[in-house]
Amino acid sequence: MWKNDFQIILELMHMVNKTLEKTPPHGGDVYHLARTLGLELSELLDFSANINPLGFPPGIPGAIQEALPEIVHYPDRRCLELRQDLAAYHDLDPGQILVGNGSTELIYLAARALKPQKALIVAPAFSEYEHALNAAGVPVEYQITTEAQNFTLEGPLDPQGADLVFLAQPASPSGVLLRPELLLEVAARLDVAGVMLLLDEAFVDFVEEASFKTHLAQFPRVLILRSFTKFFAIPGMRLGYLLAAPESISRLGALQEPWSVNTLAQAMGRTCLEDREYMARSRALIREEKEFLFQGLASLPGLKTFPSEVNYLLVKLARPDFTAAALRQALLPHRVVIRDASNFRGLDERFIRVAVRSRGENQRLLEALREVLK
Ligand SMILES: Cc1ncc(COP(=O)(O)O)c(C=O)c1O
Repeated sequence: MWKNDFQIILELMHMVNKTLEKTPPHGGDVYHLARTLGLELSELLDFSANINPLGFPPGIPGAIQEALPEIVHYPDRRCLELRQDLAAYHDLDPGQILVGNGSTELIYLAARALKPQKALIVAPAFSEYEHALNAAGVPVEYQITTEAQNFTLEGPLDPQGADLVFLAQPASPSGVLLRPELLLEVAARLDVAGVMLLLDEAFVDFVEEASFKTHLAQFPRVLILRSFTKFFAIPGMRLGYLLAAPESISRLGALQEPWSVNTLAQAMGRTCLEDREYMARSRALIREEKEFLFQGLASLPGLKTFPSEVNYLLVKLARPDFTAAALRQALLPHRVVIRDASNFRGLDERFIRVAVRSRGENQRLLEALREVLK
């Protein structure tokens, strides 16, 4: 019986993969997956997108209700109140902030507005950097970090003639933090060479003290990308922002589509920033659960887990009988979804990535893995 079900699922997955061939692969494609498998969204346990397992802050429903009457107007295209709150939260000036429809909008905007001659991506990395640069017609070079470096930058960065560099802090998908003194050195060298640095801090909220924001005033060529998606668990709302010198903010703002950030998203962002208790609980939960999941994965034979600082873990399958794709499929009958990380440039078919979730959910993942890998 189980085998039959499994067979059916494999066939369905083949169909899913065929349909998805032309779309950029990401984690979190749960609508499509649930539809294809004939399941409700709530029946899938999604470890493929790295979202705070606490869910969104409790004030969000109230914030939506309060802001709802305002949707008869166009949104404030300057996002002024949210920018003021962000400025207070980060100890910056509202003129150093540009809000976007998710940080992904701002990646595409940066690629278009900064008009680099050539860009360099420190890989493996979020695939939208490459797509955005391709869409803007910008040639791309790569500096590929290795397994021995835990897939993060450990030494000098060579821009290879690029005038825009994409680098993530913490690294994605490994979750490793760059050493602060190295990051300062990289930023300083790029600055001297006249190279812009887009530093992706989409996950830094989990370790806010590691943000480069305190150095922003010194580095007019650094743009810091931030997201509400991961830490505040609102990927469906689309809200992100850039922190940068006012000149860069004006340059990008001038080319941004009008009203891309809706009224409800702006209200939610303000509510998120108020809830310090939720922030502290989230950081404590992830610290504890990351350790639990890391130890649990370490107890399974043939898995090597990289030492992440945030809410996801990169895992290498050191066993010849499973590829990432095969393991992902084998977990589907358990209704557990993981990220096959083989399509990250610099990784291969032996890499998966899993989100850190709540204790019960992490246990379910470990049990499913134990069953499948035995
Ligand atoms: C490293 C990294 N940066 C940026 C993003 C974009 O996030 P969003 O557009 O939801 O803010 C993602 C999404 O997965 C990501 O993994």
